Amino acid sequence: MRPLNISIVGATGAVGAELTKLLEECAIPVNRLRLLASRNSAGRQVRFRDETCFVEPLHEIGDLETDIAFLCAGSAVSLEWGPRFAAQSALVIDNSNAFRMNPDVPLVVPQVNPNALSHRPRPGIVANPNCSTIQFVRAVRPLVTAWDVRQIIVTTYQAASGAGRMGIDKLRNGTKAVLEGSSEPPAAPFPVSLAFNVIPQVGEIDPEGVTLEERKLAQESRKILAMPDLPLTSTCVRVSVENGHSEAVYIEFEKPVGREQAHELLAQEAGVRLYADGIRKGYPTPRFIAHPEDVHVGRVRVNPGNPRGLWLWVVADNLQVGAALNALLIAQLAIVNRVIGK
Ligand SMILES: NC(=O)c1ccc[n+]([C@@H]2O[C@H](COP(=O)([O-])OP(=O)(O)OC[C@H]3O[C@@H](n4cnc5c(N)ncnc54)[C@H](OP(=O)(O)O)[C@@H]3O)[C@@H](O)[C@H]2O)c1
Repeated sequence: MRPLNISIVGATGAVGAELTKLLEECAIPVNRLRLLASRNSAGRQVRFRDETCFVEPLHEIGDLETDIAFLCAGSAVSLEWGPRFAAQSALVIDNSNAFRMNPDVPLVVPQVNPNALSHRPRPGIVANPNCSTIQFVRAVRPLVTAWDVRQIIVTTYQAASGAGRMGIDKLRNGTKAVLEGSSEPPAAPFPVSLAFNVIPQVGEIDPEGVTLEERKLAQESRKILAMPDLPLTSTCVRVSVENGHSEAVYIEFEKPVGREQAHELLAQEAGVRLYADGIRKGYPTPRFIAHPEDVHVGRVRVNPGNPRGLWLWVVADNLQVGAALNALLIAQLAIVNRVIGK
C-alpha cells in the first residue's frame, strides 16, 4: 500500500503522545505525520522514526488534507474539526464523546465488532469508545454471546490518567503535598482532591443522579455488542492510581453457569489474558500489568448465593487498550478493509 499521510490532533496530550509512540512502533507506512495541538505547544519537537516533527497549532493550519486524522483533543475540538477533516476526504478516528452515539458513525472495538467498519462510513468519521467501555466489552464478549444475560452490574476503579495529562499531574502533586504537609493544589480536573482518596464521580452528574461515565458505559456497550436492551448499570469511581482502569463486573445470566466453562470461554478470547488460580495471585492489578495491549481478567467466580451469577475482575491500560491502541487498531482495520489507502 502507499504510505499514508497522518495527522494527530492533541498530539501533546496523554492519549496523543501514546498514539504517536504506538504509531512509531507499528507497521503502517507513514508518508507525512502532522502533530497538532493548541497554540501553547507550537514548535515542540517530537522524534518519530528518526525524524524530528514540530508540533503545529491546529487553528493556524490551512491545509487539512490527510488520509487519517486522529482526534485526541476533547469533544469541542472534535465537533468543530472532525467534519472539516472529513470534508477533505480524511478518515477521522475520534477519541472523544462527540459522535459515539450518532447512528451513522460506527463505534468500533476491532476485537468485538470489526464488521462495523466494513465500508467507509457516510460522515467519514469512526468513533473510538470510552476507555472503561473498551476493556469491559472485550472481557465480557465471549460470555454474553454464549449465555443469555439477565443483568450486569459494574463498579469501575478508574485511574488519574483517564482525566488526561492534568489528571496525572494533579495526582502526583497532590500526593506530594499531602506527604510533605504543605497546602494541596486545587482539585480540578477532579471534583475533590484525588490524593489518598476515591471519588464516586467520573464526569458530570445528571438530574437523575447518574454520571456521564455511567451513561456512556451502558449506551456504548449496547451499541458495540449490538444488544440494544443489555441491562447494564454501574458506579464509576476515580481512584488514586496513576494509570490503568479496573472493573468489578457482576453478570447474572438466565441459567446457572460454571466457573470452568467461564474460564474456557475467556481463555480462548484473543487479547484477553486470564489469571487462573495460582497464576500471579489469580488476579491482575493496574500497576503491574506486563502486557498493556491486552485485557486482564481474574477472580472469575460463581456467586456462592446464586449459581446464575458470575464475578470478574477486569484490568486494562486505559491509555493503550482504552484509547490509543484501539484507535490504531481501527486504522489498521480500515486499511485491511480498504476503507482507506486504496
Ligand atoms: N485519557 C484517557 O484515558 C482517555 C481514554 C479514552 C478517551 N479519551 C479521550 O481522548 C481525548 C484526549 O484526552 P487526553 O486524556 O489525552 O487529554 P489531555 O492529556 O488533556 O490532552 C489534550 C490534548 O488536546 C490538545 N488541545 C486542547 N485544546 C485544544 C485546542 N483548542 N486545539 C487544539 N488542541 C487542543 C492539548 O494540546 P496542548 O498540549 O497544546 O494543550 C493536548 O494535546 C479526550 O477526548 C478524551 O475524552 C481519553
